[in-house]
Amino acid sequence: MKKQIIVNYESVSWEQLDQQDRELIEKAKTASLYSYAPFSQFHVGCAVRLDNGIIITGNNQENASFPCGTCAERSAIFYAHSNYPDHAPTTIAITARQQDGNFIKQPLPPCGACRQALLEMEHIYLKPMRILLYSTTETFIIPSVQDLLPLQFTASMMEG
Ligand code: THU
Repeated sequence: MKKQIIVNYESVSWEQLDQQDRELIEKAKTASLYSYAPFSQFHVGCAVRLDNGIIITGNNQENASFPCGTCAERSAIFYAHSNYPDHAPTTIAITARQQDGNFIKQPLPPCGACRQALLEMEHIYLKPMRILLYSTTETFIIPSVQDLLPLQFTASMMEG
């Protein structure tokens, strides 16, 4: 039997974003300025809005021992969960600047490891986390992490 998975998401212009989402993206853009990426020169920033209105930001932190580095998304979401464990993340905005310092022209989808880490948060809080992928040409609005990671591995799979 053949099966199909469909991902629903929107592409919107800056003008089509509401005030709250614009604010979150601006915070992600600012966070990218503080990224530590001397090896890739790819500066990722993200901002997470929690259900109490607090915004947490993060960026990628690289290391001379490459695997020790961490993506922006995990920097932010782990900080959020370690400091505000009672508050669900409702939206995460992600963007990046390239070597030339300009923001990306195409939205940056989070890497596989970050999708898995973000998914865990949806399972903890039983609430979808919207994902905003900002670029200079368009912004993708993805309704939940589930949409980015179909056929997912979760803790329930170990229960037998
Ligand atoms: N990076 C992120 O921070 N988030 C992603 O979703 C993709 C990649 C970082 C990791 C590394 O510091 C640099 O971008 C190049 O891969």
